[in-house]
Amino acid sequence: MKIKSADFVMSNSDVAKCPNEILPEYAFIGRSNVGKSSLINMLTERKSLAKTSGRPGKTQLINHFKINGNWFLVDLPGYGYARVSKKDKNIFQKYIGNYFLQREQLVCSFVLIDIRHEPQKIDLEFMEWLGKNGIPFSIIFTKADKLKPKAIAKQANNYLATLLAGIWEEVPPHFITSSSHKTGRETLLQYIDDVNNSFFEAADSNKIR
Ligand code: GTP
Ligand code: MG
Repeated sequence: MKIKSADFVMSNSDVAKCPNEILPEYAFIGRSNVGKSSLINMLTERKSLAKTSGRPGKTQLINHFKINGNWFLVDLPGYGYARVSKKDKNIFQKYIGNYFLQREQLVCSFVLIDIRHEPQKIDLEFMEWLGKNGIPFSIIFTKADKLKPKAIAKQANNYLATLLAGIWEEVPPHFITSSSHKTGRETLLQYIDDVNNSFFEAADSNKIR
């Protein structure tokens, strides 16, 4: 898929105020600093569409970006950021939780995992929560440029094996990416294109009925 346009639409902390168009949307979630905002910039080939930082906690709100005029990428704040107070964490969890539970046009949540790290409880628990609530997700391994090919495969396989050893009967769709090397860009955009097409086909057949 070619990215012809990528526009910032709005930021807010209330799912009820998110764009009300019924267009397929894809959310990026994961630990602070895992590379969510960088990946949005890599996919759209826009250097600073989403704000990035070397310091965790940069993205604070639900940010909608409209792509090619007919689908959305959504940049979310990270979880697991130690310097956020307990009170702020609860507020965060509530509005992010509401976003996932209430956003009907959310067709896929991308859970980002740093390829260098061993499976962490906070991510596994978050995926479990998505599963329990029937929210579809895929895994995106980030920062693949930091490892050699053999180590990339080993880390990804190890991660997926941990999921299978836990509550999951099958592994979710998964992608290996590097925002600095543009690794995985075409594959990810193709996946999004396929999901978009299914979304619009289903919407069309509902109209006919
Ligand atoms: P929060 O908004 O704080 O939750 O972080 P985020 O997940 O949006 O991370 P962000 O995209 O801001 O990137 C965090 C840091 O990781 C920045 O210093 C990026 O340059 C770096 N980074 C992101 N993606 C990659 C990557 O693919 N490779 C390398 N080497 N660094 C990356
Ligand atoms: Mg961010």
